Amino acid sequence: MTRRFPQHFLFGAATSAYQIEGGIENDWSRWEAEGRLKDPAARCARASDHWERWESDFDLLNRIGANAYRFSIEWARVEPKPGVFDDRAIDRYVKMIDGLRARGVEPMVTLLHFTHPAWFHEQTPWHMPGPEPADRFARFVEHLMPALAGRVKMYTVLNEPGVWLSGAYLGGVIPPGLKDRKALARAAVNMVRAHGRARAVIKKIGGEQVQVGIAHNMLRFLPARKFHPGDRLAAYLGSELYNHALIRALLTGRMRLAMIPGSGIADGHVPEAKDSLDFIGVNYYSRIFLKLKAFGGVGLDPFYEDRTGSGISDLNWEIYPAGLTECLVEMSKHGLPLYVTENGIDDRDDSRRATFLYDHLSAVLDAIDRGADVRGYMHWSLIDNFEWLEAFGPRFGLFRVDYQSYERTPTRAAELYREIIAAGALPDVRPAGVIKRGVGPQPIW
Ligand code: FCB
Repeated sequence: MTRRFPQHFLFGAATSAYQIEGGIENDWSRWEAEGRLKDPAARCARASDHWERWESDFDLLNRIGANAYRFSIEWARVEPKPGVFDDRAIDRYVKMIDGLRARGVEPMVTLLHFTHPAWFHEQTPWHMPGPEPADRFARFVEHLMPALAGRVKMYTVLNEPGVWLSGAYLGGVIPPGLKDRKALARAAVNMVRAHGRARAVIKKIGGEQVQVGIAHNMLRFLPARKFHPGDRLAAYLGSELYNHALIRALLTGRMRLAMIPGSGIADGHVPEAKDSLDFIGVNYYSRIFLKLKAFGGVGLDPFYEDRTGSGISDLNWEIYPAGLTECLVEMSKHGLPLYVTENGIDDRDDSRRATFLYDHLSAVLDAIDRGADVRGYMHWSLIDNFEWLEAFGPRFGLFRVDYQSYERTPTRAAELYREIIAAGALPDVRPAGVIKRGVGPQPIW
């Protein structure tokens, strides 16, 4: 039987400013200049040259028939110096938004996708105690909003705070690059506060009807040794902290990270964030296994592993579509509309993306069958882009970017997506793809 998507379902793709635009100077470009990426010589620089090519890139959305697009506005462009705003940058974003609307594409705007103006970490980093970090963010949103009011109906204010916080304060691989759990806990509370403050500004200037959500990364957590009590507890706590603590804070106004050993914070009251979600966006890629370190140490070894034979991406992420259904069903208990705000695969030879897309859209339909109110799916990504620590190796785009000529070429998945969107349904036949088997456990960074 043909499996159909609900009427008015949003089919789209997602990107972020720093990863595609080019020519941005911010905390991350500084990080690169300090040689902090895996390849110390790598630079984002022109990225995918989207700042110059946005019009033809938006035509690609029409080419696949998308009716939605998630992208981010770069804070460092809008406020290059503290309190100094560049209105030309805002004008450009307004043109882009109008360009999307003219193409029949609903914009979903992210206000913080991993990168900051460099001055922010110097003056008011997220881990600074007190209201200043959130004040600074709210000031940026306040300056931006008059231009966006009446144009944008959906915001994912923060992108993946959990990923950002882990990389910035546990892994030390994202600026400010610390390994400090107490700082993480303070930063988490401040980001929750910033979301709440931004939401108030968006509603005040944009109107109450505007929908404010988050793009929240979720993972499935499994015990590395199925019956090992320590691994099982780790998997349970991992999921509680990573998948649920933040969403709970944005619903209840109370951030509880007490379970992180040594985090030093039991409770953070953030009244500004109470009931601050109109929808939940889920970014889903894979699942990880957790293994307690030998001799009962508190440390954990998280890893990816191809345990079921469904294969891996080129970044070694296990392909596990059922996890998307599980995440969506789990989030549906909050009774809010859901969107898949990111989902995709690093597939350098274009051998797996079409099957991946099909299987994950099928997983979305499974979640809907199980009662989840899923209203849209944004594939990561529209075009190939700069992938953070990995720079330009990974290929996540529905359209391939040639980094010499900047030409865009459709992948097989772009064609499949066009067919699915046109039909509003999955084709009966699942496209055949290659399975790339993984070899043993792979570290997550
Ligand atoms: C997500 C990020 C996005 C991109 C994908 C592959 O964690 O939000 O910017 O890097 O992963």
